[in-house]
Amino acid sequence: MKTSETIILEIDPFNIEEEKIKEAAKAIRENKTVVFPTETVYGLGANGLSEEAVKKIFIAKGRPFDNPLILHVTNIKAFLEYAYVSYSLLEKMEKLVPGPVTFVLKKKKIVPDIVTAGKDTVAIRMPAHPIASKLILYSGVPIAAPSANISGKPSATLSDHVIHDLKNKVDYIIIGGKVEFGIESTVIDLTAGNKPVLLRPGPIPPQKIAEIFGDIVVPDFAYGYVEADYIKAPGMKYRHYSPDTPVILIEYQDKEQMINKVLTEYNKYSNPIILCLREHYNFFKERNMNCDIIGSEENYYEFAIKLFEMLRKYDEKVEVMIVEGIEDKGIGIAIMNRLRKAAHKIIK
Ligand code: TXA
Ligand code: MG
Repeated sequence: MKTSETIILEIDPFNIEEEKIKEAAKAIRENKTVVFPTETVYGLGANGLSEEAVKKIFIAKGRPFDNPLILHVTNIKAFLEYAYVSYSLLEKMEKLVPGPVTFVLKKKKIVPDIVTAGKDTVAIRMPAHPIASKLILYSGVPIAAPSANISGKPSATLSDHVIHDLKNKVDYIIIGGKVEFGIESTVIDLTAGNKPVLLRPGPIPPQKIAEIFGDIVVPDFAYGYVEADYIKAPGMKYRHYSPDTPVILIEYQDKEQMINKVLTEYNKYSNPIILCLREHYNFFKERNMNCDIIGSEENYYEFAIKLFEMLRKYDEKVEVMIVEGIEDKGIGIAIMNRLRKAAHKIIK
């Protein structure tokens, strides 16, 4: 839906211009939509206490109304304002915030139903990004914000992605440089019993949460596995992060096996690209195969920051993207969760 022309504000996160951030905060108070950077991915924000404002978010990104949003806050006390939290739990949460983590808690009445899709829980996150923090602080309200992409598409990690997906669908876009992590926050449910439950893996790995909370439940769905290996129908509820060009994911295995499986797939197509591990790049390049590096086995953070960027870069430029996977360890769980959900076909 076209609203009106989007106002673009370029803000340097290391040298924030007060007038610009105040203009954006004013827009939030006026129930307008503002795209802003966070340390994970760009977010599409609006006044989280206004049903009218939050509705605009769902419409701009074409998001189903049954998928709840995260409330973004700037101080730890805000968790108490919008949710029921014990002090002992808050003390533990404090060890992870601000940062790339979201907590699902029992909601208080003040949070509109549209934010939580009618659930009795609310997801709250305190981002660690200077622009996000100031925007929330100056607007004086919690900011409801999903990732700033068209629903179902890869999240936006660069301002170009945001412009591509949301220009003229939102009131403001803050261009604030590259994000730090490139994948969305770790979502932890603290309402399901004695132990926290990992709802979405992210930059904070489960081990780190277990160290603080004593334990954590990691359900199978957190790995992003679906029932079948071959996902035929696009647009099913578990499909996310998907470019229009099909993605074939090769699950991690030893180098020789992995390369063999890539070769088998590659030879089936006339215009494929391999998004490979840095460690395999020379092998493919020497054979004049179309390839680009998506990450390495050495540094999963590098993989995370490039993941959505690469899926968007080659979207509609090739016939198929063949992606080499990594191990489900540390933040590798989060990366593989996104890739499995994005994939049209998974090869083990
Ligand atoms: O890093 C992030 O979390 C980014 C930045 C912008 O903060 N936001 C983000 O929002 O990824 P979104 O809407 O794309 O993903 C939020 C996830 C969804 O999977 C949603 O279903 C889940 O959090 N969620 C939100 N509220 C929930 C609730 N009350 N119970 C369970 N899951 C919830
Ligand atoms: Mg999203």
